[in-house]
Amino acid sequence: MGINILGMGSYVPEQTLCNDDFKKFVDTNDEWIRTRTGIVERRMAGWEPAWYMGKTAALAALEKAGVKPEEIGLIICTTVTPDFLTPSMASIIQYEIGAENAAAFDLNAACSGFVYGLDTARRFLASDDSPKYVLVVSSEATSRFCDFKDRQTCILFGDGAAAAVVEKSDKIFSSFLGSDGSGARVLFARNLSPAKEIRLKSEFDDGFPEKDVHMLYQDGKTVYKFATQALPKAFELAAGKIGMTKDDIDWFIPHQANVRIIETAAKKLGAHMDKFIITLDHFGNTSSASIPLALNEGIEKGLVQRGQKLALIGFGAGLTYGGIILEY
Ligand code: UT7
Repeated sequence: MGINILGMGSYVPEQTLCNDDFKKFVDTNDEWIRTRTGIVERRMAGWEPAWYMGKTAALAALEKAGVKPEEIGLIICTTVTPDFLTPSMASIIQYEIGAENAAAFDLNAACSGFVYGLDTARRFLASDDSPKYVLVVSSEATSRFCDFKDRQTCILFGDGAAAAVVEKSDKIFSSFLGSDGSGARVLFARNLSPAKEIRLKSEFDDGFPEKDVHMLYQDGKTVYKFATQALPKAFELAAGKIGMTKDDIDWFIPHQANVRIIETAAKKLGAHMDKFIITLDHFGNTSSASIPLALNEGIEKGLVQRGQKLALIGFGAGLTYGGIILEY
């Protein structure tokens, strides 16, 4: 059983930070950021909570889908920057959009979140007491946990949200979800609590570098190496299950972290870069919102057409990775 993406929507905040704006915080420049990452500018949430961005994207997706909020049976939100530890962002959005008949929960698979969320939606839709429609919302206010004193990470990230309304269908679908928890300490942000006193003296906790409370830490080189392997692997493991190859794919929609990572993955797959949708130049890395933002932009620009085969491939903290092959 597959899924049909009935409608998508997205929302990005108005405030834009260009590369040179970072000179105010750290020793950097436009040329370094462009050539090392491909990023030119990104959006910043400012006053807007992550749930608000998610709600706005969700309402746009519902309108595109022609589905009423009360017809939604389940809301899955993906985020690494929830405004509350509890309640879930999904519950807040459920109330805000009036989806009174929906169950709601959050899912954290970091930047692989949308891939995990969409695959989870499909599994609910395949169940005996399946909801008619599932709403998947990915919303990230990464600026809330970026350390604006750390030039290697703060220049990478941006804020935004995207959402999809899905229903069951007999279209092709295949997925692979993976995780390598041994990579936890190369990309992490601690909880808001001053955790030092309550950390376990354990092999797991002792291995983490020190970082200001709740700020994002990244060992860029190690994540880079992981990513260039994870993207092709996620594709091959998902596509291989249904005997598909890169030649069957119309559009690759990868996690938007660094254009060099995507170019290396494309080379490994033997796929042309023209088949990859790129939005990181104007949105930066929006964590779990990056794949649905790119997909929705592809749809809105008329690049992604009904009947085409798509490969959504992601990686992120965890370290997680995953791929979905589906027909739009
Ligand atoms: O969704 C989360 C997933 N995250 C990622 O996918 C990130 C993966 N990693 C990367 O994209 C890259 O490793 C980075 C973009 C983070 C860094 O690029 P790099 O080519 O690996 O640079 P580097 O760490 O080797 O740094 C090269 C130089 C260093 O200076 P020295 O030691 O050669 O003098 C850095 O200090 O560039 C310096 N540098 C900067 N210079 C100007 C690091 N950040 C900056 C900066 N501006 N923002």
